[in-house]
Amino acid sequence: MSHFDHNATTPLDERVLAAMLPYLQGLYGNPSSLYRLGRIARTAIDCAREQVATLVGAAAGQVIFTSGGTEANHLAFAGLKPGARFALSGIEHPSVLQQAVRLQSQGCQWLKLDVGGNGLLPPDTLAKLKAFRPEFVSIMRANNETGTLEDVRQYAHALRADGSIVHTDAVQALGKIPVAFTELAVHMMSLSSHKIYGPKGCGALVYDKGTPITPLLMGGGQEQGHRAGTENVAAIVGFGKAAELALAELDDNRRHLARLKAALEQGLKTVPGLTIFAEHTPRLPNTVQFGIAGIDGEMLLMNLDKHGIAVSSGSACASGGSEPSPVLVAMGVAPEQAKTAVRVSLGKANSEADIVAFIHCLKTLI
Ligand SMILES: Cc1ncc(COP(=O)(O)O)c(C=O)c1O
Repeated sequence: MSHFDHNATTPLDERVLAAMLPYLQGLYGNPSSLYRLGRIARTAIDCAREQVATLVGAAAGQVIFTSGGTEANHLAFAGLKPGARFALSGIEHPSVLQQAVRLQSQGCQWLKLDVGGNGLLPPDTLAKLKAFRPEFVSIMRANNETGTLEDVRQYAHALRADGSIVHTDAVQALGKIPVAFTELAVHMMSLSSHKIYGPKGCGALVYDKGTPITPLLMGGGQEQGHRAGTENVAAIVGFGKAAELALAELDDNRRHLARLKAALEQGLKTVPGLTIFAEHTPRLPNTVQFGIAGIDGEMLLMNLDKHGIAVSSGSACASGGSEPSPVLVAMGVAPEQAKTAVRVSLGKANSEADIVAFIHCLKTLI
C-alpha cells in the first residue's frame, strides 16, 4: 500500500512505539502520585515537555499537553467573552472555524478575512485588521489541504503592538518545516502529535507566559491548572519522542519530501486537464492538491484506494461529505472544480518508485 495521506495522519514511528511501551506496561503510575511509580511517570512527562518545547524553540513551562490539535485550538479560543471581536479566515481547520460560528451566535463579532486565489491573505489584510481592532486573531501557519504557508510572523508582530492576542494553528507545519514559537511572535500555538509520527489523541498548546489561559477542563490541577485530568503518560512520552526525532531528522526529511514533491508535480503536469491548486504559492514540502477537469475527486480517491493508494479528497474531517472543499471555495475556485480536488501528502517512508507507480495508476484510471 502507498500511504499518500500524511496530512490526515502519519504511521507511528517504531522508535516512538518503543519509547511508549514501558508506560503502557509496568510503568503505569499516576504522575500525581508521590511514590516511586508516580515519580517515574512525572519525570517521563517532564522529559517529553522538554522535547516538544525544544522542537519549537520554547521553554518547557510554555507547553500545555492536550488531547490533540483540536483541543489545543479550543483552549486557545476559550478566553473569548461574549461580545468579543475576533478575526480569522475561511481556510482555517474546522476545529477553528466551528468555534467562530459558535462565538458569533454568542454575540461575538467575527471579521472573516478573505484569502486570494493563491490561498494567502492579501496585502490589505493588516490594514483591515488594524481598523477592526480585534481582541483575538487566529491565522494558521500551514493549510492542511493546499499546504500554503502564511506569513504569520508579520501579522503577529504588528497586532501584538495593538494589544491583540494572536494564535496560530501550526499542526501541519510541525515536523515539515522549522517552527519557532518565539520567532513567530504569536501568543499561542497549537500542535498535534499524530502528524509527526507520534500517537493519536495527544497535542499541545504552546503559550507565551503572560497570556491568560482559560481552562476547558477543571479538576485535579494538572498542566499547571490549565488542563485537568490524569495525563495520558504513554501518549505524551510518544509525542516527546516524535518531537525529538522530528528535530533531529528535519533537514533530511525536508530534502527528501521536496525531491519527491518535485517528481510528483512533474508527473502530474503530464496529465491532461490537471490543475495544481495554489501551485505558485510557498507550500509545505509534502503537500500537493490537484484536480482533473471533469473527474470527481471522491470517485478518483475510491478508485486509487482499490489499487492500494491512499489519498484524500480534501481535509480528512470533511471527506465523506458531498460539499466542495471550503478551503478551495474560499480561494475563489468554482464549486464544480473544487469537487475535483485530490490531496496527496507525502511522508518520510514514500519513495520515488511510489511516485512513478502513482502517476502510472492515475493515468490508467483516467
Ligand atoms: C490544521 C489542523 N489543525 C488541527 C487539526 C486537528 O488535530 P487533531 O487531529 O490532533 O485533533 C488538524 C488535523 O487534521 C489540522 O490539519
